[in-house]
Amino acid sequence: MIERIGPYRLEEEIGRGGMGIVYRGFDAAIGRTVAVKIIRPQQFSTAEEDAQLKLRFAREAAAAGKLSHPNIVVIYQLGEENGIQYMAMEFIAGLSLEQFLARGGPMETETALSILRQIADALDFAHAEGIVHRDVKPANILVRADGRVKITDFGVARILSQTLTQAGITVGTPSYMAPEQILAARVDGKADQFSLAVIAYQMLSGRKPFDAGTGPAVIYQIMNAEPPSLNDVNSRLTPECAEAVHRALAKDPDRRYPNCATFVKTLTESVAVSPEPGIALNDFYTAQGPSLRTRRSPRKDRNIAYYAYGALGLIVLVVGIVFFLWRTRTVAPPAVQVPAKVEPAVPSPTPATQVNSELDGGGSERVLRSDQIRSGEKKAKKTQEQAPKTDEELRKEIDDLLSTKN
Ligand SMILES: Nc1ncnc2c1ncn2[C@@H]1O[C@H](COP(=O)(O)OP(=O)(O)O)[C@@H](O)[C@H]1O
Ligand SMILES: [Mg+2]
Repeated sequence: MIERIGPYRLEEEIGRGGMGIVYRGFDAAIGRTVAVKIIRPQQFSTAEEDAQLKLRFAREAAAAGKLSHPNIVVIYQLGEENGIQYMAMEFIAGLSLEQFLARGGPMETETALSILRQIADALDFAHAEGIVHRDVKPANILVRADGRVKITDFGVARILSQTLTQAGITVGTPSYMAPEQILAARVDGKADQFSLAVIAYQMLSGRKPFDAGTGPAVIYQIMNAEPPSLNDVNSRLTPECAEAVHRALAKDPDRRYPNCATFVKTLTESVAVSPEPGIALNDFYTAQGPSLRTRRSPRKDRNIAYYAYGALGLIVLVVGIVFFLWRTRTVAPPAVQVPAKVEPAVPSPTPATQVNSELDGGGSERVLRSDQIRSGEKKAKKTQEQAPKTDEELRKEIDDLLSTKN
């Protein structure tokens, strides 16, 4: 595994896809955890094709980078080092919807609707900005434990997979692709709505609408076949609910909903109000235990140990200071009781506290190191045990203390 790319330290691999490998990374300059995607080099292209592809990719990433929405993964940087392209983005601690759905069976309706609503919001927002995702699929939908959903790979995933497909390599699954997208390069937001409806179908029934198995067979189904009615697959769902999903799955983009939010709103209104049994988000997160991405790395554990030692040290120091101050207060009186005629009176507070207060007033020198405090304490103790000092001696002692400061 590579240790570092650009300004990022790579800590752990968190996933692999058609585009490359995704790592959890760390930007030490600003103390931020990021997700770094190393873009797989395109071995089958000429230097010119490669340059063009990189340009297209950079253009898409720049467009997607402008999208600022709570349900869209933020892109921080697109960089290149030694000919390797990488993309740094917001790190989402959670699971992808793909991992979630791998469990099989329908999801709890409320959870499914909440996820769909958030994706629809993000998609409509992007469409209004003129950006089509083109690869809406469960692997690109990240779900945090608190239920917040974030879509990733806006506009970029399909570019690379298309080039690979042209080179004769099969990438991923066409299961979520709209019919017009299979035929034409240019698509609009309606293609994303179709993909969203495939996801809705799968979440509510536990089955994909087009599931022939091999890529070409799935493509044939998407182009020609009507999927089984959703309320036949899950008899708990109403016919209205099935109708809503089937409309968004229309082969003709013009027959779908005007936008994604209208689809999800219609779906929500047609779902039976009684709570549906199904897999809930919480069940999943607790059953899974800590996921790959939420699991702490050994390095993080080590950091926690350092913090713990640090905190312990601080507590000991504070207790020490409090004890010292308490001691100097309670022990001070006997020193003052020494008869004035034998020796000049020792000013109270004791030298150490004087040093402290002097430093306190000293602006930039407010902090006393623990060793200074300890030496101050020792000297203070000595002063109280022995005979009181003259002004001269005290001044010298204070000078000594101050000179050990640095
Ligand atoms: N920003 C991110 N934060 C956390 N995990 C991510 C992030 N982006 C991607 N991942 C994880 O890495 C995996 C691989 O991502 P990717 O290369 O986009 O491939 P694909 O989307 O085809 O699965 C994803 O399925 C997801 O689990
Ligand atoms: Mg992805």
